[in-house]
This record gives sequence, C-alpha cells and structure tokens, in this order.
Amino acid sequence: MIDLRRHNSNFCVEHFLRFCRDQVERTIAEFEMFSKTDRLLVAVSGGKDSLAIWDLLLETGYRVDGLYVGLGIGEYSESSGVYARSFASSRSATLIEVDLPGEYGYDIPGGAKAARRAPCSACGLTKRHLFDAAAVDGGYDALVTGHNLDDEAAVLFGNTMKWQTEYLARQAPVLEARAGFPRKAKPLVRLSEREMAAYCILRGIDYIVDECPMAAGNRHLGYKEVLNDLEARSPGAKADFYFNFLRSAARHFTISDTGDAAGLGHCERCGAPASGEVCAFCRLVERAGGSQPVRLSSTRRGSAA
Ligand code: AMP
Ligand code: FES
Ligand code: ZN
Repeated sequence: MIDLRRHNSNFCVEHFLRFCRDQVERTIAEFEMFSKTDRLLVAVSGGKDSLAIWDLLLETGYRVDGLYVGLGIGEYSESSGVYARSFASSRSATLIEVDLPGEYGYDIPGGAKAARRAPCSACGLTKRHLFDAAAVDGGYDALVTGHNLDDEAAVLFGNTMKWQTEYLARQAPVLEARAGFPRKAKPLVRLSEREMAAYCILRGIDYIVDECPMAAGNRHLGYKEVLNDLEARSPGAKADFYFNFLRSAARHFTISDTGDAAGLGHCERCGAPASGEVCAFCRLVERAGGSQPVRLSSTRRGSAA
C-alpha cells in the first residue's frame, strides 16, 4: 500500500502507477505541452525524476529521446551517467550525451572556482545552455525536464521571498519556443519527490540516490525543508501554494522587454540568443579555462521561433 496523505488515500501498486500516468497525462493536456506526434527530448540526470518521466512518456506512447550531460563532478557524474545509459539500453531508447570536460574543456567544480561563481550557478547556466542547444540543433519540438512539485514549489518560494518578479513571470509548467530557445515542459509538476521515488522502485528503475555533492547546504534545499515542515502540518500545502499561484497570481507578472527574445541578438561565438556580443555561457567557458568545440553548423540563429 502506498499512502498519499495529501490525496487522503491509499493505493495498491497497480493503482499507484495508473495514478502517476493519469497525473502526467492530465498535466500535458491542461497546459497543452505537446502531442504524440511531437519529437521530445528529455534531459536525464540519472536521478529518479528524470528517469521516471522518461519511462512515463515512453509507456504512454510519446516519441522521446534522452539527453545526458556529464558535468565532471567526480564519482557523482560517473555513476549518474551509468544509470542514464543503463535505463536507455533497457528500453532501447536513444540517449544523446554531452561530456562537458571532453567537449568544452572544463568541469563544474574547477570551472566554477576559476570563474568565481557558486558551483550550482555555473552548473545551472551550463545545463540550460546545453539543453537548449541540443533541443534546437536536434530539431526537437520540446525539451522536457524532470522538475517535480517539490522543485517547483521550492523555486516559487525562493522567488517569492525575494520578489523576483522577472523569474515569477517565467515560472510556468510550459514555456513557448522563442527565437533560438526550444519549447520547455515540466510534466511532473503534479507529482512529488516521494511519489517519484516510489514510482521508480515499483517500476524497477535504478537511479542515483545521492544528491549532487556540490548542492549540500544551498538555499534551494533549505526552502524544500521549510515546505516539508509545512506539508507535514497541513498535507496539500505545497500543491496549494504552487497551483494557486498558477491559477490566481502568475498572470500578474509579465516578462519585461529586456528579458524577451525579441530584443536579443546572437552570440558571436556559439550563435545562441544573447543580449551582448558574447552569451553568458561562452563567457563562463572562457573564464572557466575551457574552449568552444568546433561546430560545423548551428541552427540556433532564430530557427525555433
Ligand atoms: P536539477 O537542476 O538538478 O534539479 O535538475 C532538474 C532537471 O534537470 C532534472 O529533472 C533533469 O531533467 C535535468 N538534469 C539535471 N541534471 C542533468 C544532467 N546532468 N544531464 C541531463 N539532464 C539533467
Ligand atoms: Fe549542478 Fe550539482 S548538479 S552543481
Ligand atoms: Zn555563446
């Protein structure tokens, strides 16, 4: 039996798996994320959430390849890659791999230090850039990530604590494609971290249980703890916080012109959308002591509008 307090119910295995599939299908339909004819790319970290959403999408008949980025975080990255590869081969699915040290000449621990950035900030910038480039260059209709309810509620909590209105305006389960950026979707927003761990165990999916060693003590994890305390006192609080924001508050925040792709040019090094001559990612590569790989062609110059 799986006990879900916020839904006030107990599930047997079969019903729990069906519940997860239904929640994902409902989210995809409600937010008009994508359809069964679309080609999807799911970013997989080797963790429970991204492997679970890859499995759920394959199971429900979507056309979906995987993307794994090796970030060079020692043993942690090595094992995550093994889990991602082994899932892909067990499902005969295609996995695209990008190896940051091999292709860009830096890893997250060393690169962040050299660039004087917090590891998670260098990591976030790197991942966003590589995910976008892989999705646009591969001609995918949407980029899918494994962000779950706990992730989204914690990000919302952080953005609200600081009233970061520009970020609040972008915090939606689906973002449309804009010039040089792919459509982005988070179909797990109705499911929690705990539910995703249970899903993987019940489906026999092996995943990396350890958290990233660079993330220990970061603010985001602190927000998750606060929300878990609230959830323990009143089950459903997390979902209420997030979905009531989407329903009642999100529309009051708008993306300003400065943050909009319409006002962006192209990075002279990699072709990605950029507000200056060189994009933030290429500046990071340079400061981290790496170099850009030679690209034969890039479709990022405004092709995904
Ligand atoms: P995180 O930023 O670690 O919370 O991860 C959020 C989502 O980003 C995950 O659910 C994955 O979809 C994706 N992701 C994180 N790390 C990687 C990685 N190394 N390679 C590919 N996708 C990743
Ligand atoms: Fe990026 Fe940990 S996964 S710093
Ligand atoms: Zn660039």
